Amino acid sequence: MPEFAHLPAELRPIAGLDAATRIAHIRAERWIPYPTATRLLGILQEAFDQPPRERMENVLLLGESGMGKTMLIRKFERANATAFDIAAGVGRRPVVVVLMPPQPVEGEFFDRVLAAVDAPLAVHWASGRPARLRAAASQMLRELGTRVLVIDEINSVLAGTGRQQRLFLQLLRFLSNDLQLALVCVGVPEARHVLLSDSQLRSRFSDEELPRWAPGEELRAFITRLVWSLPLRERSPVDSPKLRSLLLERTGGITLAICKAFERAAVAAVRSGREKVDLESFADPEIWHGLTVQDRRLPHQPQQTRRVALPG
Ligand SMILES: Nc1ncnc2c1ncn2[C@@H]1O[C@H](COP(=O)(O)OP(=O)(O)OP(=O)(O)O)[C@@H](O)[C@H]1O
Ligand SMILES: [Mg+2]
Repeated sequence: MPEFAHLPAELRPIAGLDAATRIAHIRAERWIPYPTATRLLGILQEAFDQPPRERMENVLLLGESGMGKTMLIRKFERANATAFDIAAGVGRRPVVVVLMPPQPVEGEFFDRVLAAVDAPLAVHWASGRPARLRAAASQMLRELGTRVLVIDEINSVLAGTGRQQRLFLQLLRFLSNDLQLALVCVGVPEARHVLLSDSQLRSRFSDEELPRWAPGEELRAFITRLVWSLPLRERSPVDSPKLRSLLLERTGGITLAICKAFERAAVAAVRSGREKVDLESFADPEIWHGLTVQDRRLPHQPQQTRRVALPG
């Protein structure tokens, strides 16, 4: 029997390392696959694989804050990244991810597109006015062979006036029709209403959701994988319906909070020498600080900064 046999083979050597290294490993970002995310990645891939045409199929991907939307689209971006084309002397960016500006304003939007594709500053300076920024950004996207433009935090549309919102929806139509790009718009569910209020856009977007976690096999498997990614020296008995319902009740089924609670429990387990996470670990109120449903329902939190700043 190898040492730390409860862990996957690649993690066993890490479990033997000192506390500081293991804590850094526990806190590092990692992708844990689960069926809903894999299905959504498949939908994004279909959008990517469609040939350029007048009528592109776009995707609207909605989910509560902290569900893992940004992680998911970064994974999709990495999966479709291509190496620098030395022969042609140009970079290719099949997938470009742009973060919406706080207000749905064309100039700022295209400025961000240019920044996202690392456009030389000269392009920004030469552009200046919104119409020229639009032309410069469109040209860059064509040259880079961009097939999917992902717009994260699309809910910023809600921060605009009625007129700004209408202009922004027009802009999305332009991107989809004229540039023949597939759009992937990502945001919180409140954005659905505005985006799909335009009948032309509605018929071009498939409406997808990253739902909150619910009891069941998928959550059970996710927790098992989550615990497998933690280099603890003892086996963690986490396959318990009681533990799952406690997690759901406290976190409201938000991925960020579930992951953070396990991360904190694992760090505490390393520090205390218990070396495992179990139901008892979650009795410590420190684990839940800022993560519970009540904490996330604080009044007067503006749209853009609803994510709670989490201490360590
Ligand atoms: N598949 C996953 N594997 C591991 N951790 C995940 C996964 N999905 C989400 N997380 C955790 O949830 C956190 C929040 O994810 P992310 O920032 O992608 O959420 P979001 O849906 O974009 O939220 P917001 O709407 O506030 O931008 C991540 O930092 C990570 O800790
Ligand atoms: Mg996000």
